Amino acid sequence: MTTRLPRSCRLAAALALFFGHAGCPGFGDRLPPDAALPDAGDAAGLVDADSPTPEAGPPADAAPDVPPAPLPRFDPDVADFLLRHCSLCHGELPVGGAPYALVTLEETRTHLAAILDRVVDKRDMPPGGGVVTDEEREMLTRWAEGGAVP
Ligand code: HEC
Repeated sequence: MTTRLPRSCRLAAALALFFGHAGCPGFGDRLPPDAALPDAGDAAGLVDADSPTPEAGPPADAAPDVPPAPLPRFDPDVADFLLRHCSLCHGELPVGGAPYALVTLEETRTHLAAILDRVVDKRDMPPGGGVVTDEEREMLTRWAEGGAVP
């Protein structure tokens, strides 16, 4: 024979699921009164003035953890740039009024100051500018600053 709880206790058990409280034997200790809702004092205790706020990320000026891009080289970076943008006029046999060839490492080193002046600063070479991208200007600048390495 199974022991059945009185009807009022079954109701109390159902209510205990919501309110954490029961007046019938066996239910009161299954759901302690403070199990459902934390004490207001405990909740306040969770906020510790000394602990860092969860939103605080790394300092804003922290350097991103990426290695610096490798230094551009004449071959292939600069040579490829000259071939695409300059060789039409500054090829081995300069044409169209271009004063000299810009093909070899030596030629490019010899005229490096003028190249930076016209391509990076004045931006009027090739004539009309335009086609040279910011990335290419930066590449040329870094190559020059890095010693115009082969
Ligand atoms: C469409 C033909 C053409 C192209 C392409 C061209 N140039 Fe020129 N370049 C010229 C002409 C013509 C001159 C001479 C007139 C002048 O200085 O503007 C010249 C002059 C220069 C000078 C100045 C020379 C000096 O010392 O007086 C530099 C430096 C130069 N070019 C670099 C470049 C570079 C670098 C490229 C490629 C990014 C390039 N040019 C592309 C035609 C060209």
